[in-house]
Amino acid sequence: MTRRREVTRPLNDFERPPGFVFHERGKGSLRGGGNLELRCDDVPLTKLAERYGTPLYVYSATAIRARLAAFETAFRDVPHTICYSVKANSNISILRLLARQGCGFDVVSGGELERVLAADRHAAKKIVFSGVGKSRDEMTAALKAGILLFNVESESELRTLAECATRSHKVAHVALRVNPDVAADTHPYISTGLHEHKFGVPIGNARALYATASGMPYLKVAGVSVHIGSQITNVAPFAEAVARVADLVRELRVDGHSVDYVDTGGGLGIAYQGMGPEFAGYVAAYARALTKPLRGLDVQLLLEPGRAIVGPAGVLITSVLYKKENHGKQFLVMDAAMNDLIRPALYDAYHEIVPVVQSKGLSAKKETVDVVGPVCESGDFFARDRELPRVEEGALLAILDAGAYGMVLASNYNTRPRPAEVLVSGKSVKLIRRREKVHELYSAEL
Ligand code: LLP
Repeated sequence: MTRRREVTRPLNDFERPPGFVFHERGKGSLRGGGNLELRCDDVPLTKLAERYGTPLYVYSATAIRARLAAFETAFRDVPHTICYSVKANSNISILRLLARQGCGFDVVSGGELERVLAADRHAAKKIVFSGVGKSRDEMTAALKAGILLFNVESESELRTLAECATRSHKVAHVALRVNPDVAADTHPYISTGLHEHKFGVPIGNARALYATASGMPYLKVAGVSVHIGSQITNVAPFAEAVARVADLVRELRVDGHSVDYVDTGGGLGIAYQGMGPEFAGYVAAYARALTKPLRGLDVQLLLEPGRAIVGPAGVLITSVLYKKENHGKQFLVMDAAMNDLIRPALYDAYHEIVPVVQSKGLSAKKETVDVVGPVCESGDFFARDRELPRVEEGALLAILDAGAYGMVLASNYNTRPRPAEVLVSGKSVKLIRRREKVHELYSAEL
């Protein structure tokens, strides 16, 4: 029977609506088992691969807007500002899209600050500057821009900021990033809230340090910040960390400080495997976890989500260069490599991989393969021993959930130009970064 498919109801675990959904390939092919083809919004990924080549990052503007809107809805009952964490995906067109939706930004370098201001020159008053090692130049640039808040991570950094602020005759609004000693169940490389980590100041020392800060010239104590790690899918550790911060806020007020902002960082994880929970409900649970401990405190909440906004809104499309078999093991050698998407190599991260075109029937043949790149390292893989529908050389695969920490972590290892990036919004397609040319890769060499 012919049936129109609901775009909002996923067909299988491999869809990421809104954004990436399988559609019947061509009209009228429903009967008799036609092919399914992955689209980004209204645009078939095969078209984009033909036009821009592979490997290619493709992002859905619709998905980014919807995910940001889910955050706004979940936090609508409390005064808040969403400061999107630029490190997750810093393409200027994406920053501009977010700025247009009213988003602020969390930056961790002078480079990110410059990018954000290039995307939106009025963004400064919604920028928070995080990071454990800000240089004097970076601080001075941020003071000149007039950013909202510096998240300071040590006494030495406080002194340096006070020096720069005095020299610039600009008041720096500061929060101390406290380390709440809360364990988050995530990859050890991206967990940050335990006392042995380099991040923040021990929450037990914070009160004394706030007293020091308030005596420094051109510094104005304005808030408290915390970030316990990334890719955290259980909201309990967030609640625990914020409860400790709330106690500190009360103590600081007793000490006479004004605490206008509580910055709860980012870190809300996504479902890399399978569909995961329905997003609006999931963000609502996160919002409850954060806002309950802050009830009655009358603070402006700052949020720094990165991955949860852009992760599922992007895929990396790559073509099968070769199929090969070594000692009974099957390999798909792709034209993308670890330099394009390093998460599997770096964190042993799982990303769903789907053929962009696949046959509709359940009868499709499967095979167990390693999906690898052409780089000369055994760590150059996207999946190992993965059961995938059988594909031929030349086929396109989509590596899902690559919108966050994909392109930003790409390198030119093996003198490989980084991929192009495309932003799709409904039917409209925009090339937002062209593919690099090889000569550009060595043009700064003397
Ligand atoms: N705020 C601060 C202070 C952070 O350090 C981070 C991430 C965020 C916000 C945003 O976190 P998110 O909402 O995206 O989880 N490359 C790794 C992730 C590193 C995260 C570093 N800090 C990965 O690919 O999983």
